[in-house]
Amino acid sequence: MELERERKLIERMGARLTVERDLRDFFAHGEIVSRLAVLVAKALGCDDAFCDELAVAGMLHDIGKLELADVIYGHRDDILAVERSKYVRMHPTLGIDVLRKEGAYSEEVISFIANHHENYDGTGYPHHLEGEEIPYGARILRVCDVFSALVSNRAYRAAFSVDVAVEEMIGDVREYDMKVFLAFLKVVYGPEFAPVREMIDRALLFDSEDLSTHAGDRGED
Ligand SMILES: [Fe+2]
Repeated sequence: MELERERKLIERMGARLTVERDLRDFFAHGEIVSRLAVLVAKALGCDDAFCDELAVAGMLHDIGKLELADVIYGHRDDILAVERSKYVRMHPTLGIDVLRKEGAYSEEVISFIANHHENYDGTGYPHHLEGEEIPYGARILRVCDVFSALVSNRAYRAAFSVDVAVEEMIGDVREYDMKVFLAFLKVVYGPEFAPVREMIDRALLFDSEDLSTHAGDRGED
């Protein structure tokens, strides 16, 4: 999927970001989550219509963060980490508002985005939903989102390798739908993962190219 409309929306809202790299990271993370989520959905036998919804939701899952650009991105040292994380936790709900205002997104896409931080064991946010209360697409996004964050550089740590990221996730496996997680493992260690690996490597390469120019806080997942 080209996701042209979604890219334009991100560009428009991303104009608030003051550090160019933040927008690039936003795109890279959205693209990885989108692409991986579709592969996982296909491995689970989901139909094309569902995969298309998931591709859109994957690209836009963090769109609510752009509403919080002032707090989450850049170098706002006056905001306490605990305050910041309180704001960050609002982003799934803010994302709903953005998409409703756009008027172009299905309730399914909106529900995936609204619930992409819910964990299978009820430890997620914003509503502490559990198990199958969480929409299927959101359960898929959750796994892909965590993985994408782990294999990316963060202000406070370097990127994990794919193997180490998977190991980390196994340690928290209660947070994921086991059926989804097993499909995810099959994808990550299967041939269809190659284009996603390329996307991850490309993002890391960009980082190493401008490592010396930026070292700020680039938000949490
Ligand atoms: Fe998120």
